[in-house]
Amino acid sequence: MTATLRPATHEDAQLLWEWANDPVTRQNSLDSDEIPWESHLEWLQALLANPAQALFVVEWLGEDIGSCRFDTTSDGAIVSIGLASTHRGLGLSRPVLTCAIDHFWLTKGRHPIIAYIRPENTPSLRLFTACGFKPVDSDLSHASRFILMPD
Ligand SMILES: CC(C)(COP(=O)(O)OP(=O)(O)OC[C@H]1O[C@@H](n2cnc3c(N)ncnc32)[C@H](O)[C@@H]1OP(=O)(O)O)[C@@H](O)C(=O)NCCC(=O)NCCS
Repeated sequence: MTATLRPATHEDAQLLWEWANDPVTRQNSLDSDEIPWESHLEWLQALLANPAQALFVVEWLGEDIGSCRFDTTSDGAIVSIGLASTHRGLGLSRPVLTCAIDHFWLTKGRHPIIAYIRPENTPSLRLFTACGFKPVDSDLSHASRFILMPD
């Protein structure tokens, strides 16, 4: 059974907040501080109104199991993916990321896709490498930078 994606809405606010504050997700994020509810709501409202950003909820077997986001910049679209802790380690991330990138390219244009990954985040390094991302010089000291160019 394959995972599917749907655009996130305001109704996903609570779920997205819980996922965002998952300890492993915070630890692997560029900014590891816990996210207060109010700032999460402001962030989500701005994101949903911004055509340069795209946020998808991942569904699998009728359940919401994670999210994938793209923030378009002048260099490309920065991708961020997270699965609920209950659904990690099952090999789902690769089909999810591939599907999300294909959907993003189809709907928002074929921008290069950029990922920032902390060096200790082994599942993420394996995932992005397996999806064809190549390491490039990073502008951040605490995260490696990877790029996937459209064909
Ligand atoms: C990153 C993330 C989406 C990967 O999904 P996942 O379900 O954990 O990973 P998968 O089961 O799909 O496996 C992906 C790869 O990581 C490996 N892996 C999975 N869990 C691992 C672990 N605990 N330690 C080491 N490797 C692991 C798998 O073997 C696989 O590699 P392979 O294809 O070479 O065998 C998920 O771990 C997550 O949501 N993490 C928290 C948020 C985060 O770090 N996001 C990324 C920010 S850049």
